[in-house]
Amino acid sequence: MAEYFKNVLLIGATGDLGQHILSTLLKTTTTHPSQPLTITLLTRSTSTAKFPAHPSIARIHKGDIKDREFLVTAFSGQDMIISAISPYALLDQKLMLSVAAEVGVKRFVVGEFGMDTRDEELTDSVAVFKQNREVLEYAVGVCGGDSKTVGMEYTGVICGAFLEMTLLDGEMGFEFGGREVEIYDSGRKKIEVSRMEDVARATVEICFQPGRYGDQLVYISSFTVSQRDILDALNKVDKKGPWKVVERTTEWLKERGKKRVEKGDMMGLVDEIWAVAFSDGIGEAFSRKRKLVNEEMGIGRGGDEEFIEVIKGIVEEWEAGRRK
Ligand SMILES: NC(=O)c1ccc[n+]([C@@H]2O[C@H](COP(=O)([O-])OP(=O)(O)OC[C@H]3O[C@@H](n4cnc5c(N)ncnc54)[C@H](OP(=O)(O)O)[C@@H]3O)[C@@H](O)[C@H]2O)c1
Repeated sequence: MAEYFKNVLLIGATGDLGQHILSTLLKTTTTHPSQPLTITLLTRSTSTAKFPAHPSIARIHKGDIKDREFLVTAFSGQDMIISAISPYALLDQKLMLSVAAEVGVKRFVVGEFGMDTRDEELTDSVAVFKQNREVLEYAVGVCGGDSKTVGMEYTGVICGAFLEMTLLDGEMGFEFGGREVEIYDSGRKKIEVSRMEDVARATVEICFQPGRYGDQLVYISSFTVSQRDILDALNKVDKKGPWKVVERTTEWLKERGKKRVEKGDMMGLVDEIWAVAFSDGIGEAFSRKRKLVNEEMGIGRGGDEEFIEVIKGIVEEWEAGRRK
């Protein structure tokens, strides 16, 4: 087994998650000084993404991600591939997985980064999760399943919702502009949420633990919280006064989602996710039944005080105009 995965290729490096992964990869010159990484980036020929100049970034491959030959060139010589590809392009990972296995890549971190894809009831209930499961099943097949014949292993990082991005984007019912929250059902259903820097750290840590996490989903979670926990924290730190609460049901949210999709508004798919996530009896907080690898990855598991601090930071980011 290699001492660590030295040659790492990142897909989606300027995306919402990818930029956190890239900056964590670049920081490994100080966090893992004796294990230098050679970082390669892959970007679409149509992309307008701009990448930082850094001595650890060896090369940027720009091309057609549906072109096998382009992928063969880009993936050859890589030890590990991290796919932080857009949720709109999840299925493009199938060709990527096949090519990676063919050219001898050792580990492929698939674009999971969300809810528990192994929870069949949950994935059956949400259209976009079905694509995650399709890719995961494909990864299992490419990596040999039970009869291991190829050298490549896959890993999926399951982290629940991206805390900062989800809130600042006005998801989970919270609307920062009007300081208003829609509370669904009791608002007490617990879900997993992770800070994006924790998700990035877990992903990058895989480079340095080559003997672990192969052919499996790994579970991390920064906090296990409900809508009402988030609201309580917001009311503690938001100096602009208490948030207005509108009581709704998950059934109402599901219906709104359906109508939005019918009108071509893809935010309806997001409604569908939260309607399921906040419904009782489905997709329970995965920290209750899965082993979290936070400790092995060097990631904290936050308590109430830390949660309030993180929410405070999110309010400050909003005030500084980081998003919408
Ligand atoms: N847990 C959560 O709350 C949550 C929320 C959102 C996303 N996610 C997951 O996190 C992962 C990354 O998502 P993200 O939101 O960070 O992705 P993103 O910002 O939407 O896109 C990441 C990159 O994917 C590349 N790309 C390839 N094909 C594309 C296409 N057809 N359309 C747009 N971009 C394309 C682009 O890079 P180039 O321009 O360089 O080609 C883009 O910057 C996914 O697995 C997603 O499912 C989780």
